Amino acid sequence: MSATVSDSFDVIVIGAGPGGYVCAIRAAQLGMKVACVEKRGTLGGTCLNVGCIPSKALLHSSGHFEEANHKLAAHGVIVSGVSLDLAKMHARKGEVVSANVKGVEFLFKKNKVTWLKGTGSIAGPGKVAVDGKDYAAKHIIIATGSESVPLPGVEVDEKRIVTSTGALELDKVPGHLVVIGGGVIGLELGSVWKRLGAEVTVVEFLDRLTPGMDNEISKQFERVLSKQGLKFKLKTKVTGATLTKDGVELKLASAAGGAEETLTADVVLLAIGRRPFMGGLGLEAAGVKLDERGRVHVDQHFVTNVPGIYAIGDCIAGPMLAHKAEDEGMALAEMIAGQKPHLNYNAIPSVVYTSPEVASVGETEEQLKARGVAYKVGKFPFTANGRARAMNETDGFVKILADAKTDLVLGAHILGADAGTLIAEIALAIEFGASSEDVARTCHAHPTLNEAVKEAALAVEGRAIHI
Ligand code: FAD
Ligand code: NAI
Repeated sequence: MSATVSDSFDVIVIGAGPGGYVCAIRAAQLGMKVACVEKRGTLGGTCLNVGCIPSKALLHSSGHFEEANHKLAAHGVIVSGVSLDLAKMHARKGEVVSANVKGVEFLFKKNKVTWLKGTGSIAGPGKVAVDGKDYAAKHIIIATGSESVPLPGVEVDEKRIVTSTGALELDKVPGHLVVIGGGVIGLELGSVWKRLGAEVTVVEFLDRLTPGMDNEISKQFERVLSKQGLKFKLKTKVTGATLTKDGVELKLASAAGGAEETLTADVVLLAIGRRPFMGGLGLEAAGVKLDERGRVHVDQHFVTNVPGIYAIGDCIAGPMLAHKAEDEGMALAEMIAGQKPHLNYNAIPSVVYTSPEVASVGETEEQLKARGVAYKVGKFPFTANGRARAMNETDGFVKILADAKTDLVLGAHILGADAGTLIAEIALAIEFGASSEDVARTCHAHPTLNEAVKEAALAVEGRAIHI
């Protein structure tokens, strides 16, 4: 079928997750005629539908349950007869998701972005097919995201053996939840169900949780989570899972091989990472190359090896984070419009939304050592921060790493209440090329948790006041 004018666009984005929808909106703002193809019944991708937003809704709700049960008494607030209405908790989560995905639909209408409903594929140069109908585009953007990595021998049914998607929908609190993978999803969703009453065991292949995180923070994080009752089996692999009448029987072995043991679970959450998803796009026929890890290969301008075809977000290299996908989407739209945006991959924060939160930006101590960079460290514990004491949230500390010669801030790692918000000022510091002294001399309001960031910056030169 030949394309008519109404079927022709400047830009067609395939996938309406945070990468795709932001790219579509920004391109439309810049005056381009834009369509976005999305096969899901709602916009917003993994993040808004089955990722960031529903998981944070459940973390928040389960956090209230935990507070009522275990934390409020310390404040002199005595609550008795606390009970869980899980159906109501899920319903609230559903309302939050619905408001967010409808918000994106509203933004599409406002910016005149056409939503092409269905599955998109690349049908040839400058051509996208959506469920059998062809559309023409000067620029085609692949933003198809990622999917959960499977584990041979552990068959997901999204009821008893679930990915994060099923773990967001469990209709009763499991007696024993076994999480395979001590990464971000395992610890966030493990925390949700632990707070709601499940026994939670996390089986992790490596000798530590959250690989890639600053080691010192990761160790302290493990201690704090253990204190909350989460159990960890490190250096352990799952070799198989069998459904039984009452649950699941898992076979475990030491990561190095050797002794096997059996673990029974009511529900198993498989969370060993995510991988790019490009199913049905027809990339091979279109001649689009993948990199050595199966991601769409792009240059620093998000251009694939085929002119006119670009890719962003989880399906290309880099951290699989919503804000990284969004910033790439925005930058790409601006590049196509002839602007020269800049994206600093070293200043992308990452946050684990457990309690306490863990947040990082820039390099870890291990990365600096590996690069042979001389660095200084400033640390400050939340036990010495007045606001943290007032909140009764004194777990954790702030750690700032600065260049030994120039004092430039190279990284920051925070374990503590609201760490995800606190890290923003260090992301800005890195983006602006600030020194630890710049952060230390910036006036921080009292009493705030942010003062712990200032004190850690002061500690870089050994002049913290409150320790
Ligand atoms: P996606 O959001 O995956 O969107 C891709 C879209 O493309 C999907 O809607 C899909 O249906 C559509 N699609 C795919 N193929 C086609 C096709 N051929 N035709 C039409 N449509 C197609 N990140 C954070 O930064 N913070 C968090 O707190 C966070 N929490 C998370 C919690 C969970 C449980 C999970 C699973 C992920 C979480 N993430 C979080 C990661 C975040 O969701 C992803 O990094 C982000 O969604 C990636 O955006 P994207 O646009 O690249 O892809
Ligand atoms: P992950 O990469 O964070 O962690 C996976 C863990 O599983 C690692 O610790 C790894 O060593 C372990 N592992 C791998 N194979 C294993 C095996 N066979 N047996 C036992 N352990 C094994 O992946 P996860 O948690 O699935 O999350 C995927 C991605 O989603 C994250 O990397 C992140 O990009 C994104 N995400 C981000 C969130 C946030 O920003 N707060 C929240 C949730 C997800």
